[in-house]
Amino acid sequence: MFKKLSALMLMLALAPAAANAFGVKDYHKEVMTGDNGKVECAACHGDAKRKTIPDATACEACHGTPADVAEMTKRADPHDIKVEPNPHDSLHYGTDLPCTYCHMEHKESKVYCNQCHEFTYPDMKR
Ligand code: HEC
Ligand code: HEC
Ligand code: HEC
Ligand code: HEC
Repeated sequence: MFKKLSALMLMLALAPAAANAFGVKDYHKEVMTGDNGKVECAACHGDAKRKTIPDATACEACHGTPADVAEMTKRADPHDIKVEPNPHDSLHYGTDLPCTYCHMEHKESKVYCNQCHEFTYPDMKR
């Protein structure tokens, strides 16, 4: 009996930790938290099984189209080499790169371009 009880208590103690493993970024916490105080996974994952990476349409619902996002970070002078290039509208990929190549949700974000370049993008929220 005692053994069973302690196993149950252990499970209860572990449960919140497991849920936290899929917490979201601070900037999404407020808007993604439902009335029950829990993060609404469906906001990004929809009804799909939560094993896959959400597609761009999930972000689009709130952030607008890739073209809108590119416009938001447009550089005053795209040819000014002292300014790092617009990550949302690049020489190679235009506006076609999926958001989730750079903006991670459950881990630190990374800049996809830096497989080959060394951009710093100090303003990016990681
Ligand atoms: C339910 C609406 C919603 C969805 C879906 C959503 N976001 Fe957001 N996101 C917000 C809000 C609201 C903010 C905070 C206000 C802001 O900065 O625009 C935010 C902030 C951000 C920021 C930080 C911007 C900053 O400078 O503070 C990034 C990056 C971001 N979202 C990327 C994404 C990506 C990538 C996806 C898809 C995987 C996504 N978001 C899905 C609503 C949403
Ligand atoms: C190649 C990497 C990359 C991709 C792909 C990408 N982003 Fe970003 N994003 C960045 C970087 C870097 C910044 C920092 C902004 C800057 O330096 O101008 C940023 C900034 C943002 C911001 C904050 C804007 C601000 O005020 O600076 C939002 C919101 C955002 N991205 C949403 C998206 C969405 C939605 C998509 C998909 C349509 C997307 N991003 C695709 C790299 C990326
Ligand atoms: C703001 C959008 C957003 C919300 C809300 C969200 N996710 Fe995710 N999820 C992502 C993105 C983007 C990825 C791709 C990997 C990453 O960025 O961490 C992902 C990947 C995953 C994966 C695959 C893990 C992997 O590394 O391949 C699982 C499982 C998952 N999410 C579960 C959840 C659960 C459970 C919730 C609710 C508590 C949730 N997600 C809420 C955006 C979101
Ligand atoms: C697979 C490697 C790779 C990736 C990923 C990559 N680039 Fe490049 N990029 C290159 C190479 C190689 C060149 C030089 C091409 C040339 O000179 O014709 C280049 C050139 C450029 C240039 C021209 C100026 C310069 O520095 O030479 C810009 C701007 C640029 N890339 C931006 C980006 C951005 C923004 C991203 C991410 C959205 C990105 N790149 C992702 C390989 C890459």
